[in-house]
Amino acid sequence: EPEVIRDKDSMRKWSRAMRSQGKTIGLVPTMGYLHEGHLSLVRQSLTLTDVTVVSIYVNPGQFSPTEDLSTYPSDFSGDLTKLAAISGGKVVVFNPKNLYDYGGETKKINDGGGRVVSCVEEGGLGHETWIRVERLEKGLCGKSRPVFFRGVATIVTKLFNIVEPDVALFGKKDYQQWRIIQRMVRDLDFGIEIVGSDIAREKDGLAMSSRNVRLSDEERQRALSISRSLAMARAFVAEGKTSCAELKDMIIKQLVGSAGRVDYVEIVDQETLEGVEEIKSGVVICVAAWFGTVRLIDNIEIDVS
Ligand code: PAJ
Repeated sequence: EPEVIRDKDSMRKWSRAMRSQGKTIGLVPTMGYLHEGHLSLVRQSLTLTDVTVVSIYVNPGQFSPTEDLSTYPSDFSGDLTKLAAISGGKVVVFNPKNLYDYGGETKKINDGGGRVVSCVEEGGLGHETWIRVERLEKGLCGKSRPVFFRGVATIVTKLFNIVEPDVALFGKKDYQQWRIIQRMVRDLDFGIEIVGSDIAREKDGLAMSSRNVRLSDEERQRALSISRSLAMARAFVAEGKTSCAELKDMIIKQLVGSAGRVDYVEIVDQETLEGVEEIKSGVVICVAAWFGTVRLIDNIEIDVS
């Protein structure tokens, strides 16, 4: 089984020891409950670098107090078994208890102003420095989850500073997240290569997600409408359809019959994530929809040559 490192000082020490041996380090940040999507990132990292750090940390900073932090699924020993099977001794797991505990006395930050807060501020942990990628974080998932990307960018920065990797890998399943991290690394000169990995899917097309286990059989069946509608949209584009309004209508029609509620269907530029009306260059079609109490996201990149 892979070595497990639990505190940030030991993690940084380990990384620096590897670095001094001339080894390159890959980082795959996760919140655990690993599935084939996570493992594909780890496998890719192993091909790109000498050693790989898989972080397993459910980050309270990216959950709002009304979201599913306390019920987020976990299976730490299962995760270790899965990693053991693919790692060949080249993976370590970073599993810190609380990355917002800085020791000593922390004064609770009062949220008297009624700001939108994450579980970190609600918990009064005394953390107040946040990274915002101002434009990219606003659209798509940022609309319904206002503290989410601030929390992601901040925890990823903390992980970068603790692990000091050469390469970090992110799944295109969370397309906006990947683009935000890429932009942050460019804008702030992190000197880390960011790799975006293809979406791993179940045989029937459902994008793999730790949240899928919360779907009932019936909800899971209905959730297939997401990947099906995206594949259909791609086929329409291949046949020459370029109107985004028509494509979105078609996707929404497929979804409304099966999803409880459609959060968004958007066709956006692959880099700026700004909405487009006509498909002329590379776009990504992004969908978020609720099935029961589970919010699922998926997307498909469409390249135009
Ligand atoms: P988590 O949801 O655990 O995902 C960890 C990584 O696995 C992310 O980069 C995500 O995009 C990728 N991933 C998840 N499902 C995938 C799939 N079906 N195919 C390919 N990649 C997939 O995303 C997070 O955690 C967090 O926000 C984190 C980046 C760890 C920051 O807390």
